[in-house]
Amino acid sequence: MDKEISKSQQREDDEETMNLISSLPSDVDFEGTKLFKYQGCWYNDKTLQAILSFQRDFEPQDTDIIVASFPKSGTTWLKALTVAVLERSKHSSDNHPLLLENPHTLVPFFELRLYMQSSKPDLTKISSSPRLFSTHVPFQTLKEGLKNSSCKIVYVCRNMKDVLISFWYFKCANQEIEKEKNSLESMFESFCTGVSYYGPFWEHILSYWTASLQYPKNVLFLKYEELKTEPHAQLKKLAEFLDCPFTLQEEESGSMEEILDLCSFSNLKNLEINKTGRTPGGVAHKNFYRKGEVGDSKNNLTPVMEKRLDMIIQEKFRGSDMKF
Ligand code: A3P
Repeated sequence: MDKEISKSQQREDDEETMNLISSLPSDVDFEGTKLFKYQGCWYNDKTLQAILSFQRDFEPQDTDIIVASFPKSGTTWLKALTVAVLERSKHSSDNHPLLLENPHTLVPFFELRLYMQSSKPDLTKISSSPRLFSTHVPFQTLKEGLKNSSCKIVYVCRNMKDVLISFWYFKCANQEIEKEKNSLESMFESFCTGVSYYGPFWEHILSYWTASLQYPKNVLFLKYEELKTEPHAQLKKLAEFLDCPFTLQEEESGSMEEILDLCSFSNLKNLEINKTGRTPGGVAHKNFYRKGEVGDSKNNLTPVMEKRLDMIIQEKFRGSDMKF
């Protein structure tokens, strides 16, 4: 009987989802993929279905921690740092979870993993405490899924020119295709118009920037570039925000350096699990570690492209005190 009810509930949910998706504005991106605009952001239908399931069914706990970002902004790094901060002192240096698993396995995406694999994932299997999740959706969409809980959200933002280039390399690596100028140019065009997967980027960033000002206890806004230039200060900020600040003794005994070394680009990139493993969706872990530098867009974008993106950034962020 219960099974019958849940089956008919599932049918109703599916129908509601399909009706909603077909009522949304749609467009195509640079690859000809149909995208739908939901709550101000563009998604393909598979991702959107997962987002709708997440919003409808996720049961948050106030202790949950969510790592959020626009794709290619340093998500993998922030996931690793978050795990390392929370798990410190629980593991010896040779059985740390980050040595055995990719950060995306330890901190699963709501819409790209959990709710994409199943519209009703079994979250009781998650053993970490607090529970760690991640997402690429903008704040307003995440907030709806988190209902009125007081979860903590850590967002990482990165210079959009570097994000674009990182995205391009990532796509070419995943699809095992040549890095041709043409594909970068069309991707660039989608990026600039905003009709791109998870775009427009400016609205994405501003949604979390505004939320971090409005709910400073619940939303922390970090920048990739600052993690690079002042890692200790940013790590301290992260630990304080997560309510597990470094003690003086930890600071003196080198606990922060240990975490930064463990999560460093070269360390993670060279671990066996990250050289050979794949995500459940089939993405090679190694594709999440490319160069890990600030300013690589200079080597790939023409001055005209750079100028156009600079102008978009200037225009879209005018009036906010958000600085790149
Ligand atoms: P590049 O392609 O510029 O090298 P995401 O994790 O959001 O998918 O972002 C991927 C980008 O973060 C890639 O940038 C990747 O190399 C970089 N990255 C991954 N791990 C990193 C780390 N530990 N430290 C610094 N950058 C890292």
